Amino acid sequence: YGISQHGQAIAAQPAAAAQPAGKLTILYASQTGNAKGVASALKAQADASGVAAELFNVADYKIKQLKKETHVLIVASTNGEGEAPDDAIEFHKQLKAGKAGKLDGLSYGVIGLGDSSYEFFCQTGKDFDEYLSKAGAKPLLARLDCDVDYEGPATDWGNSAFELLKDALSAEAANQVIPGAPATQGVASLYSKKNPYAAELSTNQKITGRDSDRDVRHIEISLEESGLTYQPGDALGVWFTNDEAQVDALLRLVELSGDTEVKVDDKSLSLREALINHYELTQGYASFVQAYAELSGSDALKALLDDKTALREYCANHQIRDIVSAQPVALTAEQLQGALRRLTPRLYSIASSQAEVDEEVHLTVGVVRFDHDGEDRAGGASSYLADRLEEGGRVRVFVEHNDNFRLPADDNTPVIMVGPGTGIAPFRAFMQERDARDAEGKNWLFFGNPHFTQDFLYQIEWQRYVKSGLLDRISLAFSRDQADKVYVQHKLKEEGAEVYAWLEQGAHFYVCGDANRMAKDVHEALIELVAQHGGKSREQAEEYVDALRSAKRYQRDVY
Ligand code: 2AM
Repeated sequence: YGISQHGQAIAAQPAAAAQPAGKLTILYASQTGNAKGVASALKAQADASGVAAELFNVADYKIKQLKKETHVLIVASTNGEGEAPDDAIEFHKQLKAGKAGKLDGLSYGVIGLGDSSYEFFCQTGKDFDEYLSKAGAKPLLARLDCDVDYEGPATDWGNSAFELLKDALSAEAANQVIPGAPATQGVASLYSKKNPYAAELSTNQKITGRDSDRDVRHIEISLEESGLTYQPGDALGVWFTNDEAQVDALLRLVELSGDTEVKVDDKSLSLREALINHYELTQGYASFVQAYAELSGSDALKALLDDKTALREYCANHQIRDIVSAQPVALTAEQLQGALRRLTPRLYSIASSQAEVDEEVHLTVGVVRFDHDGEDRAGGASSYLADRLEEGGRVRVFVEHNDNFRLPADDNTPVIMVGPGTGIAPFRAFMQERDARDAEGKNWLFFGNPHFTQDFLYQIEWQRYVKSGLLDRISLAFSRDQADKVYVQHKLKEEGAEVYAWLEQGAHFYVCGDANRMAKDVHEALIELVAQHGGKSREQAEEYVDALRSAKRYQRDVY
């Protein structure tokens, strides 16, 4: 791409200036999905900018419709020797032949995607630009020709385009802007941590029983129009906002007005907005304890800093307001901001396969709830999803790929899955995937939770898989249904001979869930059962397990 082409607005009259605000149509001509991804990002950018926009594949778009448009952005990739993508050939042909008619009421922008090592670099984008211009349409801004590394340039171009479009097309969509959404951050062709997709939450269902002391939610999110894709084993990054009541309580404690104007990333906003959207308030952390110990002069906090174990425990059950409330002092906004850490998104192991759920993504979210001096406290992202976001609302997400937690490439390979509690999530994805692929390999699930009647997550689905034969074995450990605790590692040991036999048949062994205790105990159980049933010394068994790990046959997703 030429640098000079980068999103430079050229002086064009918005064609529909004299008319009432129109709408934006975003079209894409995509071969492998990159152009679709860029177009979807533009759509999200439109939503965030309050511009009403519709997104279409040109294959599904009637050429005659162009006459009725006021503003169109087109993202087009180029095939091999300069042809349009397969399903855009017809649209390309018609536009070339002038079938769109006179387009003098149209203002347009084009992003061409291509590869500069080819002779006909970005040819389809160039063609669309030429044909539209010939039909009398006016460029809103200069065409962008992108090389393989298109994300940055596309982002810049999108920013320029929406600066121009925002004024031309104000819309009722403005009230859909999500607090904290990166409305001015621009678009990237692929959504990412920094440029998340504002996805619709379609389902939030409690899947633990009424008498359970856990609150686990089955969450379904729509990725429609995002172009985002994932594989079983991947995680979904979830951005969230803090509970306003918690923010207000903190503001009162430090005697600050929420209206105080502050800066975050060089942007001005109210302190209340900043705390809701940009700072970590729902968990304690050492840097805050340290900063607040100094600000408040608290001896108790200072003492904590010398005892790592006590500090960790204290942080686990004290949110920021609870640390402050022990010895509240008035602070300036700068002091408070300086002591706080920036909010980070939470990663959830994805509980679905696209082979089964298409453009949805499912999560299994354990809602963090605890008590502080008789008051309810809750985890940031989990309570956002479970309590504060309504079905139909938007949540900012991105996909975090995890190549270290993958089904075997060979569908005949047996799989052993250990996923107590919400650790079940990726195994639901695995089984959906293997089901869709008609994979022949055997599958064995180890699941545990406190009570059979209350906490058997996705019970019906597992029973269905057992019945259909997809799941060869399921071993359950309901820890509190009997006098002695029974955990998944106990079941593993009990079934040690068979587990070892599966490993000898080449099985892959997966563990997901609690890292602190469960994953350690399962690791130990694995070594012990290999020693016992493989007739090995402790050292040999450890080597066997290490070898499994190096061969990527022992994979863990623990947190
Ligand atoms: P518990 O709460 O009854 O002790 C999912 O959280 C399941 O993991 C629960 O049944 C929980 O049991 C159990 N669990 C707790 N500690 C564990 C450990 N060290 N190893 C395996 N499972 C454990």
